[in-house]
Amino acid sequence: MTEALPCKTALVTGATEGIGQATAWALADAGHDVIVTDLATASLAETIDGIAARGRRALGLPLDLREEASITALMEAADQAFGPIGVLVNNAGCTLGKAAVDVTWSEWDQVMDVNLKGGYFLSARMAARCMAEGRPGVIIGVASTHGLVGIADRSVYSISKGGIVQMTRALAIEWAKAGIRVNAVAPGTVLTPSRALMLAEPARRQRMLDRIPIGRFPSVEEVAAAIAYLASPAAASVTGQILPVDGGLTAY
Ligand SMILES: NC(=O)c1ccc[n+]([C@@H]2O[C@H](COP(=O)([O-])OP(=O)(O)OC[C@H]3O[C@@H](n4cnc5c(N)ncnc54)[C@H](O)[C@@H]3O)[C@@H](O)[C@H]2O)c1
Repeated sequence: MTEALPCKTALVTGATEGIGQATAWALADAGHDVIVTDLATASLAETIDGIAARGRRALGLPLDLREEASITALMEAADQAFGPIGVLVNNAGCTLGKAAVDVTWSEWDQVMDVNLKGGYFLSARMAARCMAEGRPGVIIGVASTHGLVGIADRSVYSISKGGIVQMTRALAIEWAKAGIRVNAVAPGTVLTPSRALMLAEPARRQRMLDRIPIGRFPSVEEVAAAIAYLASPAAASVTGQILPVDGGLTAY
């Protein structure tokens, strides 16, 4: 293992709110300058303020994961602004709640493009090329418990998250000798603004809660803390792993 430490610049995709925002702040707490991205940079103001309040440099950049050119432009802009990145967190994603028989061709493409192709594979390989030679790099995916176990009416989302699980293992092996660690977290249901909306109905929310051994939903801060651990030198020997943050949901 190389003695050098990763560059203290992190890039977090989909950082407007929820897990991405909490991760940007946790990485700033751990001493990283943080570049944050989302479809619209205007939405990143609160996240950027939070990074600056922690005494770290912050930059918001636009990114549309459906476009390879957008990912290339992002990586170039990030490199120009802050130099090589040491940590990439592939957090941005989209979901689809629909019976498999009703899913359209374009809905399949949208979920796979955002969650798997652009959001993970292209971003990870672009970042791997941009990481500083001779310095370790870290790539962290945000999978889901839906990528570990089956679920009805979310097959496409579940397949995309299962792909993240497998890509994490494959890239970890491929890039280990280059000093790049690749891991993922697999959150259970976390009441981020988008998910809180989906679970607004009390009976549905209770059904979900009843399946979680610890009896509550994990928080965004707990997911962010797991990501910050995987990004840290404390996890220097951890690669190719999926860390569920699910209150024991997948322990059954
Ligand atoms: N919240 C949960 O319960 C939960 C559980 C398991 C996994 N996850 C995963 O965690 C991640 C964050 O979830 P969340 O609930 O905090 O936020 P979210 O799923 O509501 O949104 C993630 C962000 O991704 C961005 N995004 C969507 N399409 C994009 C595109 N084409 N290009 C660039 N950015 C795009 C959105 O603008 C948004 O800010 C997602 O990958 C999600 O699948 C969430």
